[in-house]
Amino acid sequence: METTLTQEKNNKLKVHIETWGCQMNVADSEHMLSLMKLQDYQWVPNADDADLLILNTCHIREKAKHKVMSRLGLLRQRKESDPNFVVAVAGCVAQAEGKKLLEQSSAIDILLGPGKIKELPRLVNEFKESRKKQVATGFAKKTDAAEETEEEFPITPVPLTGKNEVTRYINIQQGCDNFCTFCVVPFTRGREISEKPANVLKQVEQFIATGAKEVTLLGQNVNSYGHDLVEKGLLTASADGPFVDLLKEVAKIESLSRLRFTTSNPHDFTKPLADLFRTEPKLGKHIHLPVQSGSDRILAAMKRKVTQEEYLERLRWLRDAVPDISISTDLIVGFPGETEEDFEQTYELVKKAEYSFVFSFAYSPRKGTAAARFVDQVPLSVKTERLARLNALQDAATLAQNRAEIGKERIALFHYKSKKEENVYYGKTEHFRLVRVPSGRDLLGMELPVLIEDANKTALTAKLL
Ligand code: SAH
Ligand code: SF4
Ligand code: F3S
Repeated sequence: METTLTQEKNNKLKVHIETWGCQMNVADSEHMLSLMKLQDYQWVPNADDADLLILNTCHIREKAKHKVMSRLGLLRQRKESDPNFVVAVAGCVAQAEGKKLLEQSSAIDILLGPGKIKELPRLVNEFKESRKKQVATGFAKKTDAAEETEEEFPITPVPLTGKNEVTRYINIQQGCDNFCTFCVVPFTRGREISEKPANVLKQVEQFIATGAKEVTLLGQNVNSYGHDLVEKGLLTASADGPFVDLLKEVAKIESLSRLRFTTSNPHDFTKPLADLFRTEPKLGKHIHLPVQSGSDRILAAMKRKVTQEEYLERLRWLRDAVPDISISTDLIVGFPGETEEDFEQTYELVKKAEYSFVFSFAYSPRKGTAAARFVDQVPLSVKTERLARLNALQDAATLAQNRAEIGKERIALFHYKSKKEENVYYGKTEHFRLVRVPSGRDLLGMELPVLIEDANKTALTAKLL
């Protein structure tokens, strides 16, 4: 029996996907894997064994693009010696660079933008038949979504091997309409188009049926979810707005333990959304609310549409709703024109906001964006130095917050079993802190009370209660 199964497996074509960038790319990779499984491909954990290798790429900073180019350089040799080895470049680099990329690397057979994922099987087949390079880029138009039938979305995305089934991602919105001046996303993912609530609910149910306990609803600007559907007359929303309505609906799914979402943009973050944290325990006690800068001058130049004070007001709404809510953010240092004074305002904001953790980046000019054309670019040495100062400040704060957890009882949802240590499970507390728990019994997917016993900057250690 076992031999037959192995033989059957070995006859299948093999696919491997390497995923960079944000969680939306993880969801897209899982979608691509589902599509190729329907074409009778099987997943292989090692890229060297794959007949089809998909690089799902990120374009957010220059470094992210460099990684793809050096990966393609490494693949050239295998491409030359193995004519049946197919390489597809998907994701945001494929969309942003388009056909130009084909000139930069001969290793690419297929280029696939994030708006064209459903075309992957066709492109693979056409490439194999014709040996001609295949390209599908571009976006759905806002008007297209209304015509999309429910059957088209979604084929149950299968988890990428190595990822667990406890926590899953779902893209509820494509694209972004904000055009923050530093950001390439509106150019790589097009305009905002929302997935219909019925489809989102169906997808969550499918995830639950395959063992998920937590889902994260994804979009670049989830607070504006559904406004396009309302405008088209496809959705009626309550006074709280379509995103809050959607969260309430999803939270009703009984076997779902936790419901998360990202990314929330502060400019259209509403009080009803903050208040939902008080009444809906499945949302947990954490929110990611990227601010980018503490300087009003820089925030305006970034087109973030809020001031520091308006941002802090949103944090007050959240802390009124859940006093011990944990808040994280994204920051950019060295945006064009950022003076030492501007930077100090960011530094002071980080102190005031009392973040649990922070993702800080040095500004990276992206071609096509407005800020890349600003004349007052900040020298790299200054960006690096400011980044180091900010990281030192937040590292100390994160450590202090984690140490303050010692002795407290928390609820952990266990996401995965350690591969390195025997009988050790990792999960997240309700405040979204990583927690490590040694246990002889299987904890995967369970939500259990734990006592925090130790902590460092990255994780808490706890015992089961
Ligand atoms: N939609 C999210 C951000 C998505 S991009 C939002 O509006 O908050 C994730 C993070 O990458 C951003 O929050 C920002 O901090 C960072 N980022 C985006 N473009 C960047 C650039 N050009 N240089 C440096 N960091 C950038
Ligand atoms: Fe980029 Fe701004 Fe859209 Fe976020 S909201 S994806 S930072 S343009
Ligand atoms: Fe990167 Fe595209 Fe996400 S640029 S951050 S993969 S939207």
